[in-house]
Amino acid sequence: MEKNNKKQMDDQSWSVLHENSRDDAYTVPSKKLYPFQWNWDSCFTALGWAQADEKRAWQEIRTLYNSQWDRGLIPHIIFHKESQSYFPGPELWRANRTPETSGITQPPVGAMAVKKLYEGNKDVELSKQYINGLFEGMFKFHYWFHEERDPKHTGLVATYHPWETGRDNSAEWDEPLSRVPVEGIKPYHRRDTDLVDPEQRPSDDEYDCYVALVKICREYDYDQIDLYDVIPFRIADVGTNAILLRSNHDLLWLMQEFDYDAEKQETVKGWIALQEKAMERMWNEQTQSYHSIDLLTGEFLPQVTSASFLPLFAGIVSKERAEILANRIAEWSEIVSYMVPSLDPKDAAFDSKRYWKGPVWPIMNFMISLGFKNYGYVDIAERIRQDTARLILEQGLEEYYDPLDGECLGGVGFTWTAAMWLYWCGK
Ligand code: GLC
Repeated sequence: MEKNNKKQMDDQSWSVLHENSRDDAYTVPSKKLYPFQWNWDSCFTALGWAQADEKRAWQEIRTLYNSQWDRGLIPHIIFHKESQSYFPGPELWRANRTPETSGITQPPVGAMAVKKLYEGNKDVELSKQYINGLFEGMFKFHYWFHEERDPKHTGLVATYHPWETGRDNSAEWDEPLSRVPVEGIKPYHRRDTDLVDPEQRPSDDEYDCYVALVKICREYDYDQIDLYDVIPFRIADVGTNAILLRSNHDLLWLMQEFDYDAEKQETVKGWIALQEKAMERMWNEQTQSYHSIDLLTGEFLPQVTSASFLPLFAGIVSKERAEILANRIAEWSEIVSYMVPSLDPKDAAFDSKRYWKGPVWPIMNFMISLGFKNYGYVDIAERIRQDTARLILEQGLEEYYDPLDGECLGGVGFTWTAAMWLYWCGK
């Protein structure tokens, strides 16, 4: 593929954002593959918009929070307009909302993104106006995680569906998914494999489990507390927990900056203290890594993935452990040409082209790089940033990339990739 230069890539990134923008209110991740609004995509996308249009950036987040359910959940998809190119649509979720939504969530990067917008934006008055309007929703979303996804207040929040982790088919979920009953789930028609090479997407067996889990959530009318005891897939994802902790810190920082509700500030401090202690359970002495945990067995999920580095982003890693993680990433970088693979490249399940079982994802790179930077590992942070830029310049703005040969994979004209170029790695 022809190499681009920086200016061309800036222009292409803006074209992607504009082409994928709908009603000046939200941005679809990719025109055909993902034709609705996605939760964490929108938060990263806002960072891109802010580079030229701060109002549009805030609007992206506002539209997302407008979809919040009464108890605090922010859905992972909002089906603003009808489209036939994606499955499963509202007919499977039957969440009965206007606009229709899915009934599960995604990693809570919202407060993190809001703080970054506030710090980077020039129009302070505009920022204040939007942030004041978002506090309630941001607090409520975190409250929902801590109350409804951790009803026993253990400090680790549960995930009920692989899609909630944002790392849909990560090898970590293979074993826990084997417990999901899939009898009678077929037939249904996947649309993703009409658009992308099936070798680069989750398998049909995985899809059966995804659909089965949606049906269970629906049967229980999305009652999170009831589901906690019955859902056959209940894990504590190291990515989601680390991101929630990062966002709790950022929410608290914003609350202090704005003098927002002292009592609620105390609640957030309590969550942070609880999480900091609980996340210790995710460190595995044997592997010297952070891991997700299967909450139904209490066991570590054995795989080390790109999310295993996110505790750095959450700021809970000791200096000693940060050094261990830095050595690990250096070891990985000897094996792959482009950082960061989504799965340990030495893992038997590593597949450099299959979605979250190996490929590089720019948004993960952004969070991992920031984590290392905050711990003083500037060289590693910079290597990750430059690898991301190199992939985008050489291959274009696609969904994910092969860490071995750099090939671009998945959906085309991809919004959060363009946003990461504009906000982070293309600068
Ligand atoms: C895929 C990704 C998920 C993302 C969505 C839309 O499902 O795994 O993280 O939010 O696509 O881009």
